[in-house]
Amino acid sequence: MISSISANFNLSEAVEKDKQLINEYLEKYLEIKFPNTIWESMRYTTLSAGKRIRAVLALESARACGGKLENVLPTACALEMLHAQSLIHDDLPCMDDDDYRRGVLSNHKVYGEATAVLAGDALLAYAPQVIIKHTPDSIDRNILLQVLDEFLHAAGPMGIVGGQIVDIQSENKKIDFETFNYILNNKTGELFKFALRAGVLLSNASKEKLDALTSYGQKIGYAFQIADDILDVVGSLQELGKTPGKDNESGKNTYVSVYGLEKAVQDLDKIILSAQNDLIDGNIESLLLKSIASYIVEKVR
Ligand code: IPE
Ligand code: IPE
Ligand code: MG
Ligand code: MG
Ligand code: MG
Repeated sequence: MISSISANFNLSEAVEKDKQLINEYLEKYLEIKFPNTIWESMRYTTLSAGKRIRAVLALESARACGGKLENVLPTACALEMLHAQSLIHDDLPCMDDDDYRRGVLSNHKVYGEATAVLAGDALLAYAPQVIIKHTPDSIDRNILLQVLDEFLHAAGPMGIVGGQIVDIQSENKKIDFETFNYILNNKTGELFKFALRAGVLLSNASKEKLDALTSYGQKIGYAFQIADDILDVVGSLQELGKTPGKDNESGKNTYVSVYGLEKAVQDLDKIILSAQNDLIDGNIESLLLKSIASYIVEKVR
C-alpha cells in the first residue's frame, strides 16, 4: 500500500508550475542562432510535449533542501537537453527505430538522419555549457565542477551510453541478472540519480540529505524504467506518444519480458515504497517527491 498523500496537495498543479518555469528557461537557452537548422532540430525534440520529470525532480530536490531554484534551473534544463539527446538517438533506425516521439514524428523523420545525429551531438555539447555559463557566480566553483563531472558521468560510457550499448547488444539474448540491472541502472537510473543529487549539491545541503536523495533517485530511476517497460506492453500510441509493442518486436530484455507483467507491477510497488522510506530516513519533507513516486505506479494501472 502506498502511503496516503495530503488532500491539500495537488501533484499535477505543482508539476505543471515547475514545467512552465523549465520550459521558459529552455526556450531562452535554445533561442535560434546560426545555423538555424540545427537549433530548430534541437528545439523540436527538447521543447516538445515531454513530462520534464527529471528537471522537476532536480528543482524539487533543491527546494526540499532549502536551496534557491535559480541555482539549479540551468542544470535542470541541461538535464532535459541531455534527455532529449538520448531520445533523438534512441529513435534512430540504427537504434530502436521509432517513428514517433512525444506524440509527434521522431526527429529523424522530420529533419533526416544526418541532422538528427548532429542535433543530438549539439545538445550533448551545449548542455554542459548551459551549466557553466548560467549557474550563478555565488555557487562555489568546486561544487560546480562536481555537478559537471556527475552530469558527464551520467551522459557517457558510465551512464546512458553504457546502458544503451548493453541494451542493444542484449537484443534477442538471454542475459543474467547483473547485466539486466546494469542496463536499467545506466540507460535510465543514472540520469534520475543525477537530477536528485544536483538539487542537493547546488543547495549546499547535508550529507544525510545527499545520501537519502541519491538512494531515492536510484530507485525512482529503476522504477521509472520498469513502468516504461510495462507501458510499452499495455499502452497505446495515443497514450504514450511513441509506438507501443516496440520492445517485443526488437527482442529487448525488459522487466516484463524477463519477469512477466504481474511481477513487474508488484516489484514496482515495492521499489516505490522503499524510495519513499528513503525520504523519511533523510528527514526530507516533500509531498512532490513522495507523490511523484506513487504517480509512477499509478500510471501503469
Ligand atoms: C522516456 O522517458 C525514456 C526512458 C528513460 C524510459 P520519459 O518517459 O521521461 O519521456 P518524456 O520526457 O516524457 O518524453
Ligand atoms: C530508454 O529506453 C533509454 C534512453 C536512454 C532513451 P527505451 O528505449 O525503453 O525508451 P523509449 O521507450 O524509446 O522511450
Ligand atoms: Mg532504447
Ligand atoms: Mg526506445
Ligand atoms: Mg521503452
